[in-house]
Amino acid sequence: MKPGDRKQLEQYLINNFEWFHRHPELPYEEVQTTAKIRELLTEAGIEILPYPLATGLVAVVRGVPGRTIALRCDIDALPVREEAEVPYASGTDGIMHACGHDFHITAGIGAAILLQERREELCGTVKFIFQPAEEESHGALKILETDAMNDVEQIWGFHADPTNAAGVIGIREGYVTAAVDRFVIRVKGTGCHGAHPDDGIDPILASAAIVQGLQSIVSRNINAFHPALLSVTRIQAGTTWNVIPAEAEMEGTVRTMNREDRILYEKRVREIAERTADAYGADTEVIWTAGPPATWNNGEMARVCEETAKKLGMQTVPEESSMGGDDFAYYEDRDTMHRDVPGCYVKIGTGVGHPIHHPGFCVDERVILPASVYLAGVLTAALCDAGDRGN
Ligand code: NI
Repeated sequence: MKPGDRKQLEQYLINNFEWFHRHPELPYEEVQTTAKIRELLTEAGIEILPYPLATGLVAVVRGVPGRTIALRCDIDALPVREEAEVPYASGTDGIMHACGHDFHITAGIGAAILLQERREELCGTVKFIFQPAEEESHGALKILETDAMNDVEQIWGFHADPTNAAGVIGIREGYVTAAVDRFVIRVKGTGCHGAHPDDGIDPILASAAIVQGLQSIVSRNINAFHPALLSVTRIQAGTTWNVIPAEAEMEGTVRTMNREDRILYEKRVREIAERTADAYGADTEVIWTAGPPATWNNGEMARVCEETAKKLGMQTVPEESSMGGDDFAYYEDRDTMHRDVPGCYVKIGTGVGHPIHHPGFCVDERVILPASVYLAGVLTAALCDAGDRGN
C-alpha cells in the first residue's frame, strides 16, 4: 500500500472489515481474529508488544518522546444467528459481529496505520489495545494483567452507533455507560403438599414479596436525580402443580452510575432478600457478582473529540447515556487501576438501522475510513495540542 493514498487505504480497510465480519469469534476464542490483526499491523510496520495474551494484542505507534495514551478496540462477536443481508455475512452459523466490533477492529487498524505513516509528527506514543471478550464484561481485565496500561495517561474508546447516520459523532461529558452488577437470590423454605401449605414454608410466596420489595430501592433509597435500575430477569421454582417446592431461585441485574448508589444497592438487595424471607420463615442466600463500573467521560477529553470533529467537518450530537455497560470502564477505574486514568468513550454513527445485538445489525462501510481519520485526529490532538489547552 502506498503511504498517503486514502482511496487505497479505504479499499484495504473495507476488504479487511468484510474478512472480520465473515470470521466472527466468541469471547476468549478470538484466535483467528487476533492472528489477522497481527498480520495486518505487522504488514504496516507497526510494533506489537510481546504480551502472553491468549487472544487480543497491544500494538504501539511511537512518535517523538512524550506522553503515552491508548485507544481500546474490542474484537469479540456474539452468539447471534446473522440475518443481515450483506454479501460478506458471517461464515460461522450462530455467531455474528452483531455489536460492530469488526468495525472497531478495522477503524482501530486504520487509525494505527495513519499515525504510523506520520509518526515523526506525533508528539508521544499511542498504544492500540485490541481487547478480547468485551461481551463477557471482563476481557479488559486480561489486558490489565499485563503492564500495557502502566504508563498510559489517557484511555480512549468508541462504539458503533446504529442510531446515527454514518460518521456522526456522539459525544458527552460525564457518565455514558452504567456499572453492571448481577445477583442471584436463593430462597429456602420447606416443601409440602399443595393442598397443605400449612405443613411447609412456601419459597414462592416469599420470592414474590422479595421481587416487589427490590423495586422499592430505586423509588425509596436512591436519589431521584441519579440514574439507577434493578431488573429481576429469571425466577425458577417447583416442578409440578400440586407440590410446594422447597426452594426458589431468582436472578437479575442492577445498573447504577454513581459509586455510592452501587454500594447502597448491594446492601439493600441483601437486606430486603434476607429480612423478607425471614418474615415468611424462609432462609436466603444472596450471591452478588460485581461487573465493570460506570464509564465517565472526562470533560477535557470530550472537548478534544468535539474540536477534532469540527476540524474534520464531521457532525456531532449529544451522546446518549446508556444503562448498558462496557468493560472499557475498568481502564479508568480507581479500584482496578489504583490511580485516576481519565477516559473518553464516543459513539460513531454507522448508519441508521437495526440496534446492536440484533441479527440484522450492519455497518455502513463508508464510515470506516472517516472513523479511522477521526480517531487518528483525536489521538494526535490529545498528544500534540495538550500544551495549547494548558494541560
Ligand atoms: Ni459492543
